[in-house]
Amino acid sequence: MLTEALDDTTLADLVADATAAPSMHNAQPWLFRYGRCSRTITLRADFERAMPEADPSGRSLHIGCGAALLNLRVSAAHHGLDAATALLPEPSDPALLATVRLGVRADEPREPADGVLAVLHPAIKDRHTSRYPFSGQPVPDGVRAHLADAARAEGADFAFLTPIHLETVLGLIRDAEGYDRGDPAREAEQQRWTRNTRSEAPVDGIPDYAFGPHDATERAATRDFAGTRVVPGRARVLFESRPQLALLSTPGDHATDWLRAGQALERVLLTATLHQVSTSFATQPLEWPDLRWVLRDPVFGTGHPQMLIRLGYGPNGPCTPRRPLNDVLTIEP
Ligand SMILES: Cc1cc2nc3c(=O)[nH]c(=O)nc-3n(C[C@H](O)[C@H](O)[C@H](O)COP(=O)(O)O)c2cc1C
Repeated sequence: MLTEALDDTTLADLVADATAAPSMHNAQPWLFRYGRCSRTITLRADFERAMPEADPSGRSLHIGCGAALLNLRVSAAHHGLDAATALLPEPSDPALLATVRLGVRADEPREPADGVLAVLHPAIKDRHTSRYPFSGQPVPDGVRAHLADAARAEGADFAFLTPIHLETVLGLIRDAEGYDRGDPAREAEQQRWTRNTRSEAPVDGIPDYAFGPHDATERAATRDFAGTRVVPGRARVLFESRPQLALLSTPGDHATDWLRAGQALERVLLTATLHQVSTSFATQPLEWPDLRWVLRDPVFGTGHPQMLIRLGYGPNGPCTPRRPLNDVLTIEP
């Protein structure tokens, strides 16, 4: 049990692990504050990094922050620190997303011991979004069961799409891309978050080297961050025609559910990484309300769709930049 404040190295490790999480367009919409006296890390939303066009409700922003929170909990477990997490502890302050009190006393409420969390720690640095073609090799049933368990442990549902539902969802991804292309404000917003690494050394956004190859058929279940631009030297390749897609859903659709979805997402992604399964996303249909509701499986689906994940076996994605810790972490005396 910890009774003293964390040393600076451990604190930096915890927050660096948190910020390795995925976020929409790599906007990293989070701020951390550590109170030495309270031994508490506070996670706040950075609404300056919101996407008003594609994410007006802040749902995706909360999912990214939830993923960072899961990494923080995994890192705490790895460092042998008991943690007590509270979501949205101040209803009057919606930017205050969570508090994580470290080194809780034996008589204080804490999370039930979750030995599995520490096991996930090595995957934090190995997980990257892979926008490359995957092979046709199916993800085995045993691994699928682990992924569903990971989501369930965080209060979410995770299910691979059935063959019939897959056809519908591939159509919805293409519909959403058509909507996006017809919406100059959304196109401009996405472009503002892409980075040309020939002319800048970014700390956020999607660097051009992470776009992945161009799909020769224009039908891949990935998001093409190049849009209509030509990226010099970018390969044109064939992607899998029947991708393995899974939907992550939650019973409710409020800020707490989005934070839970983010934690479940990251727990699924880290579990997949440990099993050498690569992942990427195609969340375009989730960003159009009329398409989001029809994403749900008409036969088996329950809850509110939160993330559409592509899984399979293929090249690892590259490391993408993160903001320096000094920009995202404040320490209170
Ligand atoms: C809510 C959310 C939505 C995302 N949507 C997409 C997407 O549609 N397509 C995509 O390629 N990546 C998507 N991503 C992944 C981010 O682009 C990625 O996490 C970010 O660029 C950082 O890269 P990394 O995951 O390799 O660390 C999404 C991530 C989150 C959290």
